[in-house]
Amino acid sequence: MASSAVASSAGDFSKLRIEDYASSAPNLYKNLSLLSPDQVELAKGLLDLNQAHLFQHWDEPGVEDDEKRALLEQITLLNGSYPGGLASYIKTARQLLADSKAGKNPYDGFTPSVPSGEVLKFADDNFIRYEEIGVREARRAAFVLVAGGLGERLGYNGIKVALPLESTTGTSFLQHYVESILALQDASLELGQGEGPTEIPLAIMTSDDTHSRTQELLQKNSYFGMKPTQIKFIKQEKVACLDDNDARLALDPKNKYRIQTKPHGHGDVHSLLYSSGLLKQWLDAGRKWVLFFQDTNGLLFKAIPASLGVSAAKEYHVNSLAVPRKAKEAIGGITRLTHQDGRTMVINVEYNQLDPLLRASGYPNGDVNDETGYSPFPGNINQLIFEIGPYLEELSKTGGAIKEFVNPKYKDSTKTDFKSSTRLECMMQDYPKTLPPSARVGFTVADAWLAYAPVKNNPEDAAKVIDCVEKPFRLFRLIDFSPSCYMQVPKGNPYHSATSGEMAIYRANSLILREAGVEVSDPIRSTFNGQEVEVWPRVTWKPKWGVAFSEIKSKVSGDGNSITGRSTLAIGGRSVYLENLALDGALIIDAVDGAKVKATGSVQNAGWKIENVDFRDTALPEEVRIRGFKIGREEQLEGTYEVPGEYSIPPPPVSK
Ligand code: UTP
Repeated sequence: MASSAVASSAGDFSKLRIEDYASSAPNLYKNLSLLSPDQVELAKGLLDLNQAHLFQHWDEPGVEDDEKRALLEQITLLNGSYPGGLASYIKTARQLLADSKAGKNPYDGFTPSVPSGEVLKFADDNFIRYEEIGVREARRAAFVLVAGGLGERLGYNGIKVALPLESTTGTSFLQHYVESILALQDASLELGQGEGPTEIPLAIMTSDDTHSRTQELLQKNSYFGMKPTQIKFIKQEKVACLDDNDARLALDPKNKYRIQTKPHGHGDVHSLLYSSGLLKQWLDAGRKWVLFFQDTNGLLFKAIPASLGVSAAKEYHVNSLAVPRKAKEAIGGITRLTHQDGRTMVINVEYNQLDPLLRASGYPNGDVNDETGYSPFPGNINQLIFEIGPYLEELSKTGGAIKEFVNPKYKDSTKTDFKSSTRLECMMQDYPKTLPPSARVGFTVADAWLAYAPVKNNPEDAAKVIDCVEKPFRLFRLIDFSPSCYMQVPKGNPYHSATSGEMAIYRANSLILREAGVEVSDPIRSTFNGQEVEVWPRVTWKPKWGVAFSEIKSKVSGDGNSITGRSTLAIGGRSVYLENLALDGALIIDAVDGAKVKATGSVQNAGWKIENVDFRDTALPEEVRIRGFKIGREEQLEGTYEVPGEYSIPPPPVSK
C-alpha cells in the first residue's frame, strides 16, 4: 500500500501544525525546507508517535542534506510497505513488547487436541488415488516459492536456490523446482480433459538480499525452460528495528540518517500476494490452489501430487504438509487449539511450547509418543496448500496482515533494556490463526524420507547436537550465538545440511525404485563433515521422467532390474524405460522428449565414486565443501539421444 502519512487513518493524528513541533524537534524544524509536503506530514506523524529521536541528531541545513532526504525516503518506503503503515507497526510493537515484558503466554485459555488430517502411506492404493487427483488438479494450481531468507545458519555466500540439490547432475534447487512445475503441468494437461488454465504460474518472494541474484540465475539459464511470463517476483521489504519497549525506531549504528532494518519473516508472502493483485488474477483465470514451498527442500515435489489430491478430495481450505514427528523432536506440531471462549484454530505449535501446553491441559506426561511410536501431533514442514477462493476472501478482510511476534533479548530480568534492537516478525504458517471456525483446515502427513530434507545448517553446526531455547519460533535451529543456548537435541535429529539433503535425494529415489520393483542394494554408512549418513546408490531423474509413483512404476518392467550400492543412475529424459537392467557402475542417459530409450541388460564399469573432502579446504568451491564430498567420475556408460526415435542402452550387438 502507498501512503504518505504515518497513520492507518486520518483520526490517528493530532491536529497540530508542524510549527507546533518547533520546540520538541528543533533540528527537524530547521531543516523543513528540504522536505516535500508529504515528507513533512510523515515526519509530523512520527513525532506524534514519540519518535522525535530520529531527528534529534540532524545537522544544520546545508550539511548532509541528501542524507536527510534519504532518511525520509526510507521512512516513506517503510510506511508504505507495511499494512496500516508505520503507525500500525509501532502500535502493534508496543502491545507485543508489553505482552513479552509481562511474560504473557500466547496459549493462555487454549486446550490442545489432535486435529484431523490424512496420513499417507507411500505407494498404497490410497496414495496412488490421491496422486491421480492431485495431478488432475495441478493445472489449476499456482506455486509460491518463499526465497527471501538470509540463510544465516547455512552461511552460504550465494543464494540458497542456486545450490545444487545433488552433485551427481549438479542441478540447482531452482532448476529442479521449475522443472518439477513444468513436469506437473505436462502431466496434468495430459490427464485432464476439458477446460482450464494451461500454464502453472510460479511466484517467487525475494528480498533485497536475494532479489537480483535470483533474477540473474533465471535469466542466465533461460528460465530453466519456463516462459519468463510464467514467473512473477514479489519482493518483501525489511521492517524497522526497535530500540525499547516504547517501540522507538532504532537508528542504524553506522548512519544516523538511516533506520536500522531487518527481515520481517516469510509471513510477508500473504500481504504481497494480496497487494500485488496476483491472487485475484489467479482466481479470475480459473485457478483454485496456491502451493507454498521453501528454498531448499529437494524432496518436496515427490509429495506434492498426493498432498494436492488430499486438498481437493477433502476440500481443505488450508492443508499443511507434515511428517511423522517423534515426541519432543525439534519440529513444531500441528495442533488444534480450543479456547475457553469457543474459538478454535489448527496451527503449528513450536515443539518447546507444545510440551508445557499439554502438561497444563490435563496431559501429565506432556508431549509423548502414542501406540504408533510417534507423537499424535504431526510435524510441520511449512509447505502449505490453500484454496485460493477462501484465501482471497480472508485476505480482503485483513489485507494479508497476519499475527506477528517479537523476540527481544533483554539485558536483565527487569526486561527494560534490550541487548540489541529487535523487530516484529511473522511466519506464513500463522495464517490460520485468524480464520473463522468454519474454515476447513487440515493436514497431510507423508513419510519424511519422501517429503522433507531441507538444507539449513552449515557443516559445523549440523555436526553438533545443541539447540537453543531462545529461538522457539525457529524450526530446526541447531545453534545460536546466545550464551543461554543449552538444550540438547535428542540424538538422531536430522542434520538438515547440504550433506544430509543430498543423501536424502538418493535414498528417496532408491526407495521409490525399490517400490517399483527394482532390486536396490542396501546403503552403507559414511561420515562427511562430521555427519554420519546413509549412502545409497546415486539415483537421480529429471522430474519429467515421473511426477507420480504410478508413472514411475509404468517405466520399470521385468523382474531383473538391479542397482548395486556403488552405482550411479542419472535419467535425463521423459521416455526412458528400465527393463531388466543390471547396473553395477555409472549409467547416464540424456534424451530429448521424442526419444524412447530402453535401458536393458548388464552395465558394468568403474563408475563414479564419492570422495571425502574437508570443508575447511578453501581451495574447493563452497558448494562442494559444505557437503563434505565430491563425485569422482571414473568411468560411465553414457547415452545421449538428440533425435527422436527408439533406442536401447547398452546398444544391442550389431548382427553380422
Ligand atoms: P528459514 O527458516 O530457512 O530462514 O526460512 P532463513 O532466513 O532463510 O535462514 P536463517 O534462519 O537465516 O538461517 C524458511 C523459508 O522462508 C524464506 C526462506 O528463504 C526459506 O525458503 N524466508 C525466510 C523468506 O522468504 N523471508 C524471510 O524473511 C525469511
